[in-house]
Formats: sequence, structure tokens, C-alpha cells
Amino acid sequence: MKKKAEIGTNINKAAQFLSEGKLVAIPTETVYGLAANALDAQAVVKIFEAKNRPSFDPLIVHTFAIAEVENFVTHIPEKAKILAEKFWPGPLTLLLKKKQIIPDIVTSGLNNVGIRIPKHPLTLELLKKLNFPLAAPSANPFGYVSPTNAQHVFDQLGEKIDYILNGGACTVGVESTIIGFENNVPNVYRLGGLTIEEIENCIGKVEVKLNTSSNPVSPGMLKSHYSPLKKLIYGNLDELIEKYKHKKIGVISFYKKYPCCNIVLSPEKSLSIASEHFFAAIRNMDANPEVEIILCEKFPEKGLGRALNDRLKRAAVK
Ligand code: TXA
Ligand code: MG
Repeated sequence: MKKKAEIGTNINKAAQFLSEGKLVAIPTETVYGLAANALDAQAVVKIFEAKNRPSFDPLIVHTFAIAEVENFVTHIPEKAKILAEKFWPGPLTLLLKKKQIIPDIVTSGLNNVGIRIPKHPLTLELLKKLNFPLAAPSANPFGYVSPTNAQHVFDQLGEKIDYILNGGACTVGVESTIIGFENNVPNVYRLGGLTIEEIENCIGKVEVKLNTSSNPVSPGMLKSHYSPLKKLIYGNLDELIEKYKHKKIGVISFYKKYPCCNIVLSPEKSLSIASEHFFAAIRNMDANPEVEIILCEKFPEKGLGRALNDRLKRAAVK
């Protein structure tokens, strides 16, 4: 039988595996990533295999400094520079025109590469040690809920990777916000840990283009994504609980407590705390044998609530 991945905090070991072209799971502030040397096409193939990910879905490249980014892209639009300086390290991915050094497999043949500087001390230290950037999608089987701690990664991909760098639970809890530029005009392609409000306060109005067509600009926007195995329904909880009262329901609520199998995300009614616990709550309900159907509350459509509602919409499509 194939051995299971080791979980630890040894950065040298993680660096060694990555330098040998192997896969290592890394902590970030958003979700855990499944990393490989972004400049080594053979190492990158292993990511697609381990995740069972279609080759048309490109990977984000992670690095540790804005000065490094210039090695990988031909041009950084003015507004991208402003965002990078303000929000990196942080939950922001910029789509920028790639240099040849980035293998085509990383970008699924697209001209742009997604670049991000993650905000996690262990991963930043690791990236500084390496002489290459890391390609890393979320460390979950394709289509499933993203992992927000080392155990989540171990449970699903433990047999497919060598090392899981344990950086504790992710503090943001949803993936990065993805921004691309058309003629220097910024468009948001994925809602995420950096809110539209924060972005617009910095660079003015942006367009949100969450396309769901069969040929998406940002393939993470595929309609069915972030899905638990069980049926998930979201909306007004009082109505849903009444409607499904004869079923074995598991209820994920924003701040109110319900007298049934219930996870309250943030009794203090904070969207950032709710976001931190969101994916773990879905996993927890998915694994609970007492639960048949997962009911989740729709969040207020502002700030991180928009990113959470977007995940719910995709998780609910079967
Ligand atoms: O927070 C995050 O972004 C996490 C952590 C690990 O950094 N990563 C993550 O990766 O969520 P992933 O692969 O699960 O989602 C990345 C999405 C892809 O599905 C795709 O939609 C978009 O980013 N993307 C990446 N490169 C792109 C490109 N060159 N053009 C368009 N979209 C791209
Ligand atoms: Mg993902």
C-alpha cells in the first residue's frame, strides 16, 4: 500500500521535496494549496493527476515579493501595481501576461498567468528558500470543498503527496479574489477573500464578471464547484427547516442557534469569522452520518458575504 503523507512543520524538508519535483501541501491564509515547482512542467503534471483536475483549469503561481513577479510576467498594469502594493501578501490573485519561463501547462495554454503572494509566515519562509515559484491550486480533489487545515488535506490526498506543511487553520477561509485586466481595465473573475469594497476603495469601480459559461475566462467559475457529496440547499433557514423537517438535516447558520444538528459560524455575527469556519462546517456536515441534507443560510450580499454566497451557489448545483 502507498504510504501516507507526513504532516509536519519542517520547511527544509518541504523545500527538499519540492526541489526533487515532488508535491507538498502548503498553508496559506485562504486555503491549503497543493504545490509543485511552477517552472518544472513534469512536477506540475503531478498536481493535475493528484487532484484529478482537467488540464483546461489553470494554476495560480505563488511567490514572495513583487520584485520576483517581474521574472514571470511581461507587464504589470498601473492598477495591478497599486493593488499588489496595497494587498500583497494577501488574498488577491492578479492575472498578468506571462513570460515564456512559465510553462504552458501552468496556464492551460492561456497567455495570462495568475500570480499571488500568500500571507502565511511558513509558506513565505519556504518560498524565500526556493529558487523557483510554486504552482498551487487548492489541495482538494477537483470539484470538492477546499481544505482549511492540514488534516483536511491528509484525509483526501494523503496517499498522493509526500509532505503536508502544517501551518494550522487558515484564517481567511475562502480562496483569493481573482482580478484580470482588459486594456488596463480591471475585472473581477472570482469573488474571494479580498472584498469588492476594499478593491474599489483602492482603485475605483471594478466590473464583476463571474461567468459561468462552458468556456469561462476563469475556469474556477465552473458552475458546479466546491461541492460536498451530500445535497446542499441554501436560502432562508426558517423556511428551509420547515420544508425539510422530516429529513435528517444538518443546519449551518450565520449567527443564530437552531435546536437541531447545527453549526453556528459566528455567534458574534462577523462575516470574516463565518468565512474562516465556512468550508470546515460543510466538511463536518458532509462527514456526519446523522445528516442527509445540508441546509445553509444565505449570507448578507456584502463584503465576504458575496464570496460565501457565490460558493454556496456553486456547491448547490448538482
Ligand atoms: O486562495 C487561492 O487562490 C488558493 C491558494 C492555494 O492560493 N488557490 C486556489 O487555486 O484557489 P484553485 O486552482 O483552486 O483556483 C484557481 C483558479 C482556477 O480555477 C482558475 O479559475 C483561476 O484561478 N486561474 C488561474 N490561473 C488563471 C489564468 N491564467 N487565467 C484565468 N484564470 C486563472
Ligand atoms: Mg480550487
